[in-house]
Amino acid sequence: MAAKRQPRLINRKAAEAAGQRDELAAGLLAPAAHISPKFLYDSLGSRLFSAITEVEEYYPTRTEAGIFISHADQIAASIGPGCTLVDLGAGDCAKARKLFPTLKPARYVAVDISVDFLAESLDYLQFRHPEMDITGLGCDFSSQLDLPDEIGESPRVLFYPGSSIGNFTPDQALDFLRQARAASQGGGLLIGIDLVKSQTILDAAYDDALGITAAFNLNLLNAVNRQLGANFEVSNFRHIAFFNAEQSRIEMHLEARHTNTVTWQGGERCFVAGERIHTENSYKYTVDRANSLLNAAGFRFTRCWTDEKGWFALFWATD
Ligand SMILES: C[S@@+](CC[C@H](N)C(=O)[O-])C[C@H]1O[C@@H](n2cnc3c(N)ncnc32)[C@H](O)[C@@H]1O
Repeated sequence: MAAKRQPRLINRKAAEAAGQRDELAAGLLAPAAHISPKFLYDSLGSRLFSAITEVEEYYPTRTEAGIFISHADQIAASIGPGCTLVDLGAGDCAKARKLFPTLKPARYVAVDISVDFLAESLDYLQFRHPEMDITGLGCDFSSQLDLPDEIGESPRVLFYPGSSIGNFTPDQALDFLRQARAASQGGGLLIGIDLVKSQTILDAAYDDALGITAAFNLNLLNAVNRQLGANFEVSNFRHIAFFNAEQSRIEMHLEARHTNTVTWQGGERCFVAGERIHTENSYKYTVDRANSLLNAAGFRFTRCWTDEKGWFALFWATD
C-alpha cells in the first residue's frame, strides 16, 4: 500500500523565541504599553479568530469570500493555473482551500506564526487534498519575509487575505509589500484589504455581542504569561475596541479594571486603573490609497474587485 502523503513542516519557532520574549518585555515596559497583534495567535487565539469569522458583526471574511465567488473566473484568468500558492498568515487554511478549485495551484505553502495550529490545519488539508504538494512554514514574518528556496520554482502567488496588512502601520505595510513583491519572484500578490465605512459597522465588527473578540483580545494575556513567564490575571483587564477616524484604524486595547502589578522574569510593571495596553491596529483603506500603496511597493499593474457595498477590496498586483 502506498504511504499516505504528509505535509512538510519547516518550523523556525524555537529560533525566534528569545527575540520575541525581548520584544514582549520592551512593549510592556514602554511608556504607552503595547503588545504586537501577532502574539494574539497561540493555539486558542487561532481558534477564537476562526470563531470571530463566523459572528454576524464580523463582515470581512464573508464579504471577501463573496468577492472570490462573484469574480472567480476573472481572478483565475488573471493568475493562471499551476502556481505555487503562498498563504501568508494561513490560519485554518480555509480560505486557500476554497480557492483550490479556482486557482488550481501546483503546490501550496502555508506560512503562520501559530505553528501547532498550522500543523493541525495542514494535516486536515492534506487529508482533504491527498494530491496536493503542501508545505507549512512556521515563522514570524513581521520583520522579515524569508521564504525557503525549496518551496519551488513555478510562479509564486503570494496570498494575503483578510486585511491582515491593516495590522501594520502604513509605513510598515509599504516595507512588507516591498518584501512580498521580492519574494513573489515576478509572480504576484493577491491581497484582501478592508475599506473605510461607517463607524457603527466598524466598531461592532471588533466588539461583537457574543464577546468572542473580547475573549480573543484577553487571551493574549494567557499567551504572554506562557511566552514570557508573566503573571497577568485576565480578570483584571477589559477589552476595548473603537474606530480612530483620524488614523483611519480600529484600535484594540486591554484596559486595567483596577490597579495591578504584573511581574515576569527580569521585569515588572504596575498598571494603574484605566491604563491601557495597545494590542492591535487594523487600518482601513480607500481603494485609491490601497492602490497607491501597492504601486509604491513596486507593483506596476493592479486589478481590483470589490463587493456591491464597497466594504472590502481584493487586489491582484504584479510587476
Ligand atoms: C487575521 S488572521 C487571518 C487568517 C486567515 N488568513 C484569514 O484571512 O481568515 C491572521 C493570521 O496571520 C497569522 N499571523 C499574524 N501575525 C503573523 C506574523 N507576524 N507572522 C506569521 N503569521 C502571522 C496569525 O496566526 C493568523 O493565522
